Amino acid sequence: MSEDAPQLDLRVTLYPEPVLRRRAEPYEAFDEALAALVQSMFERMYASKGVGLAAPQVGVGKRLLVANHTGESEDELVLVNPTLKETFGTKTTFEEGCLSFPGIYAEVVRPESCTVEAFDVEGNAKTYTFHGFQSRVIQHEYDHLEGVLLVDRMSPADKQRHKGALGELVEAYRRARARA
Ligand code: CO
Repeated sequence: MSEDAPQLDLRVTLYPEPVLRRRAEPYEAFDEALAALVQSMFERMYASKGVGLAAPQVGVGKRLLVANHTGESEDELVLVNPTLKETFGTKTTFEEGCLSFPGIYAEVVRPESCTVEAFDVEGNAKTYTFHGFQSRVIQHEYDHLEGVLLVDRMSPADKQRHKGALGELVEAYRRARARA
């Protein structure tokens, strides 16, 4: 993180904005624009008290995610053009939230561990194996790059429980569209 004034101009896209549903496109250039976007996404993520953020959540339909599962600077992670190679381990259930679904939390079942191939912000290829909470964060953010959302992963019971809140998000989106 730089010492510069934070650029909190990135707005978090909310369900059901269409960019969240599209499969994100790969990066071809590892340039300054990418580095600047990464910086701004971290600032947005920390300001929103999130542990991960995918580019479609700031309106950019590209295969990029940032994450920090502890909040410690050494745990900052940038995955460009990631490919989820494998998930493995025990399936665990954990309550997840999502900045694109404010106030909505739901239990999601995911495998304990995953292996991901990705590039860093400078274009170096890397392979990661994640476990536990970090693996969960990465799997959640990776879903965003495939257009898969929290609402798709929640149980029918949770979907029913959150029907009102989900409906309000859809209604807010419709109203914003009508004003635009
Ligand atoms: Co999310």
